[in-house]
Amino acid sequence: MATAAVKVIGVVGSGQMGSGIAQVAAVAGFDVWLLDSDPVALQRAEKAIAASVQHLVSKGQLSQLAGTNLLNHLRYTSSLEDLKSADVIIEAIVESEVIKKKLFSELDRIAKVSAILASNTSSISITRLASSTSRPAQVIGMHFMNPPPVMKLIEIVRGADTSDEVFITIKNLAERFGKTVICSQDFPGFIVNRILMPMINEAFFALYTGVATKEDIDSGMKLGTNHPLGPLQLADFIGLDICLSILKVLHEGLGDSKYIPCPLLVQYVDAGRLGRKRGIGVYNYQ
Ligand code: CAA
Repeated sequence: MATAAVKVIGVVGSGQMGSGIAQVAAVAGFDVWLLDSDPVALQRAEKAIAASVQHLVSKGQLSQLAGTNLLNHLRYTSSLEDLKSADVIIEAIVESEVIKKKLFSELDRIAKVSAILASNTSSISITRLASSTSRPAQVIGMHFMNPPPVMKLIEIVRGADTSDEVFITIKNLAERFGKTVICSQDFPGFIVNRILMPMINEAFFALYTGVATKEDIDSGMKLGTNHPLGPLQLADFIGLDICLSILKVLHEGLGDSKYIPCPLLVQYVDAGRLGRKRGIGVYNYQ
């Protein structure tokens, strides 16, 4: 399918990533279905998108009319059947291979024959997700950074069987979303997390072994290397559970002991200190 033929986009999962992706697609002029099995999560997403669009209007980045039009192009549903009209479906649900595979096989059953199935996974193998469908050539990774409306990058991941045509369509689509594209082959952690997570893990080891305080570790990387957030602040922003699960994928997939998660990170996750979303992680936000 050529990019020009893409009119309707389905997004599955209405958390921070899914709702942000739906907003990005609507701002780019597409008709969007945002699906979540949880109606409360859908309502939350609808409010967050409306507030974010209002912010763009108040800053003069969108006219009131364009903002209203855009919101009218977004529809919310809990029924998979509504994604039948979608040309591209972007999955942004929980980072579990078992749950994602189940969803991909259901999407494969209901989606148009020509539809492309994309995953926003941050580290799970696209090749393995594709194997749960009858259309592996039309399955691809489309990894947005958090928060999707703000971050300029989309990391496109080619599975073993992703076709050149599908890659080009998704690359063009990402550019229509106003993003810069990088392309990764399907290996654990792709590009960004392959490099980012060892840095975050090392920051935890520096804290764990008493090299420095959390504040000094973060200031060191923030002011010393011009990062917007220090690595421990960034870990809290991403979610410590997500960081831990990506490190496990790197360790299992690449078999190198350098990816073994720091015991302090494991302990924080065990204690439910998952970062900003829980009000406490490395830092206390309460
Ligand atoms: N949706 C839409 N807009 C948002 C937003 C969201 N969720 N969060 C922040 N913004 C906007 C704000 O509205 C604000 O816009 P204006 O300047 O137009 O007013 C702008 O972003 C700045 O926000 P704030 O002033 O509230 O806060 P800030 O200056 O601290 O910036 C940030 C917030 C842009 C997120 C900044 O902290 C940052 O760049 N953080 C690093 C983010 C990052 O590294 N993300 C990648 C994580 S790794 C990843 O995603 C991959 C993975 O698989 C784990």
